[in-house]
Amino acid sequence: MAGLKLFVSLHRLFNSRRSLFQIIICSAIAGSLWLFYLFVVPQLLRFRFRTDLGWYDLGAYGFGPSRSYASFQYESPLLEITAVDGDRGCDDLYTFLAPRGDSVAHPGPMVFDADGELVWMKHNWETTQDFKVQRFQGEDYLTYWEGEQVDGRGYGSWYMLDSTYTIRYVINPVGDFGGDLHDFHITPEGTALVTVYDPIPADLGSIGGPKIGWIYDCLFQELDIVSGEMLFEWRASDKFPVNSTYETLSGGTGKERSFAFDFFHINSVDKDEQGDYIISSRHMHTISCISHLTGDIVWTLGGKSNDFRDLSDGEATSFSWQHDARWHQENSTLTLFDNAAHAHKDPERESRGMVISLDIRKREASLLATFYHPHQQKSISQGNLQLKDDVDRVVIGWGHSAAYSEYSMDGKLLCNVHFGASAFFDFGRVVSYRVFKGDWVGNPQTRPDAVVLSDMIYVSWNGATEVVGWRLEAWDGEDIDEVNHSEGFTWIDDFAKAGFETEISVPDDLGYLVFRLAALDSQGNVLGRTNLLQRESDHGIAKESIVWIALIMGVCGLVAALCQTKRLIACRHSCLRRSNAYELVSL
Ligand SMILES: *[C@@H]1O[C@H](CO)[C@@H](O)[C@H](O)[C@H]1NC(C)=O
Repeated sequence: MAGLKLFVSLHRLFNSRRSLFQIIICSAIAGSLWLFYLFVVPQLLRFRFRTDLGWYDLGAYGFGPSRSYASFQYESPLLEITAVDGDRGCDDLYTFLAPRGDSVAHPGPMVFDADGELVWMKHNWETTQDFKVQRFQGEDYLTYWEGEQVDGRGYGSWYMLDSTYTIRYVINPVGDFGGDLHDFHITPEGTALVTVYDPIPADLGSIGGPKIGWIYDCLFQELDIVSGEMLFEWRASDKFPVNSTYETLSGGTGKERSFAFDFFHINSVDKDEQGDYIISSRHMHTISCISHLTGDIVWTLGGKSNDFRDLSDGEATSFSWQHDARWHQENSTLTLFDNAAHAHKDPERESRGMVISLDIRKREASLLATFYHPHQQKSISQGNLQLKDDVDRVVIGWGHSAAYSEYSMDGKLLCNVHFGASAFFDFGRVVSYRVFKGDWVGNPQTRPDAVVLSDMIYVSWNGATEVVGWRLEAWDGEDIDEVNHSEGFTWIDDFAKAGFETEISVPDDLGYLVFRLAALDSQGNVLGRTNLLQRESDHGIAKESIVWIALIMGVCGLVAALCQTKRLIACRHSCLRRSNAYELVSL
């Protein structure tokens, strides 16, 4: 009955042209709604609105707020620091991160101080990951990976910069491989543990794939940093069956070499006191110990072939899609970053840091502590946990979410920092693979940078950690040749360094004397001097006046145009008639 009615009404509709028009309009609306549902709704669902968010986190300053400088060419992220526990808030160590993403103005490795001021940055053209300080032969180095990132893998090299920011070592894996972005870990013995991804043919039949398919095999190598010699190499496919993975074959993955199946996804390598290797496999949800003698699996925590009895009701072995497994031999503990998700469509689970105690002999695991972000973070990729026993703190880098946090050892949040607007974290427009805190002393080989803009001097020195003040020295000598030999300069005044870039107003009585700024350390030693500078002559003022004149003329023009339009509207009929009349006359 209802079907007949529908048919009749449809029939009537089709019979009139006007109805046809209505049908077209309706289909257009339905089509738009479908497209909106398909493409816009998923994006809207990724927007994380919270009532307790400030302007920064709501994106009022952009997805990745940044600041620029007069004396320095690059922009650096603006950090939003929230100290949670009063005095115990954020510690005063430096922060090391490598922000990247569509909303990062100048990606690369960066160091920030406790006030969120930039200390050093390098703008790298290729992708930078895993930026941190590591000790090698009694010296601290800044280390990072730089190269081409393809999906979740990398093809590049690992770099080690000394305290003058000079590249001292560039490390590549042995064999016909690109160095992978996931880990570059320097051991106390002075060797490097690195990761490699290598596509090879494999039987994917056990997971419903092709008999002759392709996998990204995962390797790690131990390298001698100085000689580049390989001391150990290990391949995941030799020891782990493909069907232990939690990753699923989809959209033709595994059918071609260039579209190989990422069954294992190694993302960290460490070493225990026996010299065995501790590796993390994101796609198997496992942390495994690999014998340094045979390459065999000694034990596995988590995943489908877990060897441990979980004394914490399953909580110690329930991690998934995790990163950054580190072994701490003093108390047989393992730390890791449990992503708990690897895609937006995964169930709503919270990412967290974990400290797990292992009794290796009894094969027992228990959860000691967890660390959560105050905004229930779901970081679908990346992330790390740094245990800083020397200051009794834990630092978590939230990876795909532009945030890092500090905690006391028992899991209490002390400090939370964002370097992107948190309402848009799920869009991944600003991310940092890992974040670390630590000490650093940098003495760059460059000169300090300074520029004079009208009556202000702007001075900075990228990477100089020991500068506490700037000394203004003016040249009032007789013989202009002397100025180039650093002679005849007199002390004018000292100014305290204020952040990355210090602003100093040119003293009135300096006139047009040539001057320079000397960087002072806490002992009053001069660490470096700027180029010679001079107060801007009147051209600077003239430039400003031109802008003002242009602005005033523009506003006048706009007002005149508005008046004209208003007049035209007001007298539309009569004016038009008049213009017609004029045309008639002219013809
Ligand atoms: C993997 O496949 C093998 C044989 O193809 C089977 O014996 C084993 O039980 C499978 N393992 C899992 C975790 O499914």
